[in-house]
Amino acid sequence: MRILIAAAAAVLLASCQADRPAPPATETAKFAPILDAPDAVDIHSYAKPLEARVTHLSLDLAVNFETKRIGGTATLDIEASPGAKEIILDDKGLEIESVTDEAGQPLPFKVGAVDENLGAPLTIAMGDKRKIIISYKSAPDAGALQWLTPEQTAGKTLPFLLSQGQSIENRSWIPTQDSPGIRQSWDAHIAVPVELTAVMSAPKWDEADPTPPPPNMRSFGFRMEHPVAPYLIAIAVGDLAFKDLGPRTGVWAEPITLEKAAAELADTEKMVDAAEALYGPYKWGRYDMLVLPPSFPFGGMENPTLTFLTPTFIAGDKSLVSLVAHELAHSWSGNLATNATWADFWLNEGMTTYAERRIVEAIYGPKVAAQQVALGLDAMNKAIEENGGLTGADTRLHIDLKGRHPDSGLTDIAYEKGAAFLRTIETIVGRDRFDQWLKGWFSRHEFQPVTTSIFLADIRENLIKGDKSLEQKLMLDQWVYQPGIPSNIAKADPQAFAAVDAAVAAFKGGKLPGAAAWNGWTTDERLRFLTKIDKKQPADRLAALDAAFSLSRAGNNELRFAFLTLAVANRFDPAVPALEEFLTMQGRRKFVRPLITSLAEDREWGRPIAVRVYSKARAGYHPVTTRDLDKLGLLPQGK
Ligand code: BES
Ligand code: ZN
Repeated sequence: MRILIAAAAAVLLASCQADRPAPPATETAKFAPILDAPDAVDIHSYAKPLEARVTHLSLDLAVNFETKRIGGTATLDIEASPGAKEIILDDKGLEIESVTDEAGQPLPFKVGAVDENLGAPLTIAMGDKRKIIISYKSAPDAGALQWLTPEQTAGKTLPFLLSQGQSIENRSWIPTQDSPGIRQSWDAHIAVPVELTAVMSAPKWDEADPTPPPPNMRSFGFRMEHPVAPYLIAIAVGDLAFKDLGPRTGVWAEPITLEKAAAELADTEKMVDAAEALYGPYKWGRYDMLVLPPSFPFGGMENPTLTFLTPTFIAGDKSLVSLVAHELAHSWSGNLATNATWADFWLNEGMTTYAERRIVEAIYGPKVAAQQVALGLDAMNKAIEENGGLTGADTRLHIDLKGRHPDSGLTDIAYEKGAAFLRTIETIVGRDRFDQWLKGWFSRHEFQPVTTSIFLADIRENLIKGDKSLEQKLMLDQWVYQPGIPSNIAKADPQAFAAVDAAVAAFKGGKLPGAAAWNGWTTDERLRFLTKIDKKQPADRLAALDAAFSLSRAGNNELRFAFLTLAVANRFDPAVPALEEFLTMQGRRKFVRPLITSLAEDREWGRPIAVRVYSKARAGYHPVTTRDLDKLGLLPQGK
């Protein structure tokens, strides 16, 4: 099969050279072979990439805010084994008008049975054609897209559209093979209302739009020449302005948010330099960021060349910018070397969380990084508790997602156990040796899918190199395939939070931290305090904390969230108005899901609050957030 694919690839490369420059051959040729390994088979896609796979995607689309649809054509370049007569794509609710070959001849197609999570297979009888054109529209309830009314934006005057593709939602607006192992280069022309700006996760492309827009629309071009995992294709359309931050960094935001965002992001160029010093050249050209309206469901999303960010990280003092270090680190772990399937999500997120803290250390110093490592280990232990304890199947790094949505693997196990694993290896082999290996890992696997078994083979070949005693010390297989925490884990620096931990003990004995102490603490130190004190607190203690440090309305959203979590757990009525405001002013899933879930589970006190808040806030949340919250049954018919 490998030989067939290679031969087909050579023919295809030759045939498509005429109309556009192909991506560098090294980038395409390297990645097909691994997809035939058993652990590279993606159970969350209908595609059969060994028979036929998409290599390039060309979108020519218009955005319609009235109908809440994106529509137009997708032209797919296909690489296939010589006998292949059909190709299977992923489709979630697309309205397909036609499928043709390049000459406009119709090709038969069929949409199969719909699975709630995966959508449906779209099978196209392509015969011997290797370029197909699909005319289609997304559905108004496409899972990747959020259509905001002007009131739901920061500026309040114009509508906004944003997409979130990871993990399996891009099939709701792009007809392609939506599997992280099937890398595709892509380009797009996007027509939008003249008063709006479109941005995407690719460099700007000046080539004229093949379908010139009508006078009330204008068109934007983008072209990603590297093959990327399709979940990394992203779009946003709105009232957007741009500000430079450095020679290759900048920020997009609604005009009203731009200055604050730029001030918060002032260290970004330094972060890119620090990341390059650790992990090798930044391969994507520019590193820009887009600060979205508050309903964006994630903290950040590593869309190549254009990280998407929640505005809730803006604290006014840069105290939450490790988020940027995280998304930037994905430019190596995730975007260069990409998990082939969602079972190996830890390779994306664990490596990134590890690298994030190395970037933070380079810019903000070892003490800050050591504290973030310690907070991370706390989060790991909490995630183990929440996932069945030390023997829970979902506490493994390589997880079994059979019959489940990939997002059920979106826990701090992938992030924090993954990061702890890499930090353990670093501690055992020494920083220099580990850094050299990790940098080599990215360059050996750049623009390729990776799996846990590839990771193990690479580390054995390039780091352990037959050293039996080192092999034993590392406990690699136990780390990735077994639940719980291996005994060799590198512990947190016990001194990382010495002063705060003393204050936690004093609080247990009835003493509030002094104003001077609290004011001298960093955000991480305050967070440590709020997450380490007993979960059960009497109302007068919460009232005292809130009176002293204004936590329920803190401008720092992580602190506010930590306090509101305590408030809900203790039925602390005075914080309810602040809680309601917090849950309606932003839609970050990490904040709203646990708070609303805890409220809903507290039948007597919390549930009525949950019902009231959710009925008000739901319209402002992204589908990935409402998908879970609807299951709580708070509103009639879920909505
Ligand atoms: N790639 C993730 C976000 C994601 C993961 C979206 C899985 C959909 C499915 C992103 O890099 C991320 O991890 N974001 C975190 C922030 C980070 C600092 C831990 C978030 O959004 O909270
Ligand atoms: Zn991440």
